[in-house]
Amino acid sequence: MKVLVTGGAGYIGSMVCIELLNEGHDVFIVDNFSNSEMGTITKIMGITGKMVQYANVDITDRTALEVIFRSYQFDSVIHLAGKKSVSESIENPLQYYYDNLIGTVMLVQLMQQYDVQSIIFSSSATVYHPASICPIQETATLKSSSPYGRTKLAIENFFRELTAAHSNFSVVLLRYFNPIGAHSSGEMGEKPLEVPNNLLPYLMDAVSGKRPILEVFGNDYDTVDGSGVRDFIHVEDLAKGHIKALYYSMQNTGCEAFNLGSGTGYSVLQLIDTFAKVNEIDVPYHIGLRREGDIPVSFADISKAQRFLGWRPNKTLEEMCIDAWRWQLKLLKEQHVEAQIVFPSKKTV
Ligand code: UD1
Repeated sequence: MKVLVTGGAGYIGSMVCIELLNEGHDVFIVDNFSNSEMGTITKIMGITGKMVQYANVDITDRTALEVIFRSYQFDSVIHLAGKKSVSESIENPLQYYYDNLIGTVMLVQLMQQYDVQSIIFSSSATVYHPASICPIQETATLKSSSPYGRTKLAIENFFRELTAAHSNFSVVLLRYFNPIGAHSSGEMGEKPLEVPNNLLPYLMDAVSGKRPILEVFGNDYDTVDGSGVRDFIHVEDLAKGHIKALYYSMQNTGCEAFNLGSGTGYSVLQLIDTFAKVNEIDVPYHIGLRREGDIPVSFADISKAQRFLGWRPNKTLEEMCIDAWRWQLKLLKEQHVEAQIVFPSKKTV
């Protein structure tokens, strides 16, 4: 199959491209490199030994995107391009609605024009009502608490209405829980060029001395140890879910949502402890106040993805932590930064 991957140079997109290439598909990446690097494309080719075509194009640039659609007949689109910071979306909702929503509408316009009937969309667990009961099923009430989340929700609604009107169209909505880890080759992983937002980048910044300490946002939740509970999923497992979704989309029309998570909740303190143990390194942290807008517990019911996509995650929390740190060490070396371990550690970096 020939697959267009928007945002294919990003943290998740690059892993999806590797899986697609390993399965023998042709990949065309469209990325504006706002939070990714062109070097990632060379790495994708190095890891897979396969060629990748790409274009430095913003999906809101309809003219440039149309040149690509005119030149290639795609079988499907895996759409990951978009902005993803909750805090930034509160400061700049216009940008978020424009890039995420308008970008998607333009993409779908071109898909219709050039007769591409299948799309896999990168959605998020943030679409679920904050009070959803865990494990969260796809049928849970949808209500997001940030402009970022509401752009995801608006796009999901758009796709539902689109497939209701066009019966040949196939949309798979993948609701990601908390992707962490890096490629097991150690060659690729998350490299946020913008200010990171999530736990793992902060944790690794604290371990490598880029930040003085990791702040744990609250230890007074009604959880196993008081810290928040999340469903961490290895980014390689997540990427494999996209391939299964692609095959599903080839066989089915309509719009269907699937959770992609591990199906297990771990607390922030359990994650820190596991990271420290498996990497034999100290994680400097202190307990701070709850972060506004955080929910206490979130983890997925993944039985629908298991049943209909034939997908199941394989990697453990330990593997997620090992792969994340291996990649971080490589990144530090690449950046010629001497990792300064600020707290006594058992292992020298
Ligand atoms: C966040 C977003 C969510 C988005 C998701 C993926 C919020 C409120 N939610 O989810 O909309 O879809 O990222 O990008 O921003 N934590 C700390 N210290 C830190 C950072 C995080 O203790 O420095 C804790 C958080 O309180 C939370 C857990 O770690 O309990 C995971 O946080 P994070 O990685 O930001 O993901 P989510 O909050 O699940």
